[in-house]
Amino acid sequence: ELPPAAQRVDAGFLKDLLGRRPRDSHKGKSGKVTIMGGNYGMAGAVRLAGEACLRAGAGLVTVISRPEHQLTVNANRPELMFWGCELVDMEVYLRLGWADVLVLGPGLGKDDWGYNLYKAVGLSDKPCVLDADALNLLSKEPCRQVNRVLTPHPGEAARLLGVSTAEIEVDRFAAVRQLQERFGGVVLLKGAGTLIYDGDTLMVAPVGNPGLASGGCGDVLSGIIAALMAQGLDTMTATIAGVVIHGEAADLAALCGERGMLASDLMPFIRQLVNSDLI
Ligand code: APR
Ligand code: MG
Repeated sequence: ELPPAAQRVDAGFLKDLLGRRPRDSHKGKSGKVTIMGGNYGMAGAVRLAGEACLRAGAGLVTVISRPEHQLTVNANRPELMFWGCELVDMEVYLRLGWADVLVLGPGLGKDDWGYNLYKAVGLSDKPCVLDADALNLLSKEPCRQVNRVLTPHPGEAARLLGVSTAEIEVDRFAAVRQLQERFGGVVLLKGAGTLIYDGDTLMVAPVGNPGLASGGCGDVLSGIIAALMAQGLDTMTATIAGVVIHGEAADLAALCGERGMLASDLMPFIRQLVNSDLI
């Protein structure tokens, strides 16, 4: 049962969304994204977000992660730029300043390394996507960016609101409203029947399938949304379109079966979908 103001979104939303690239396009025009995260044991999270961001059409993507993670992040994906960050220094601020859009959170972890990146992003006025552990930091220490997308799963939403995950699930509409009121920006509440709310319009996206319930699929979504923002879509449109592309890619990948489906399996279909408005 949908609340009266909610709108349902489907694949039709992608029509005329991005349009054909102009003949004289160059990589700087397609948008630059800096993705931060991938603490020890979680390098794959930023690799997945970075690759998805490229496949969704970003012109240039830089990953900032632990220096030890360069080979993992770039393995079979030399197109990703990489900055190994030990301490948050001038070099990190330069790479934040370079980007059109920031992503913070995939595999960020809970130590001081991640916290220092969180503080650096807090000082930036760039449009950003906060995901995963960045949301856990946000629940402890507020920070406000102007154009911000928050992408909590129910567990992260629970921490942000100081309630239990069960309380989130019992009324997901109320949860996404409260999150938006408290934290501002665009809020995306994950799960079967993803909800998106910007304080004005409430969208329900019944897309995707249980094949997405495997590690890393959320990281892919963050990368897609950032790529769409970097290509000029506003935060709300980019978030809705990102969820639809992610869900449709999952449905295409699931033709080989939902069980055993991996986040990486979405990649080729993301590319197909960001070009599908031309067909
Ligand atoms: N139907 C439709 N979509 C689904 C379903 C389902 N049954 N299950 C999951 N999804 C989608 C969600 O809507 C979301 O877009 O898959 C994605 C899962 O995202 P996350 O929960 O963030 O999963 P993951 O990428 O593995 O997160 C990695 O970061 O957020 C932290 O605690 C999290 O340790 C985890 C890590
Ligand atoms: Mg996640």
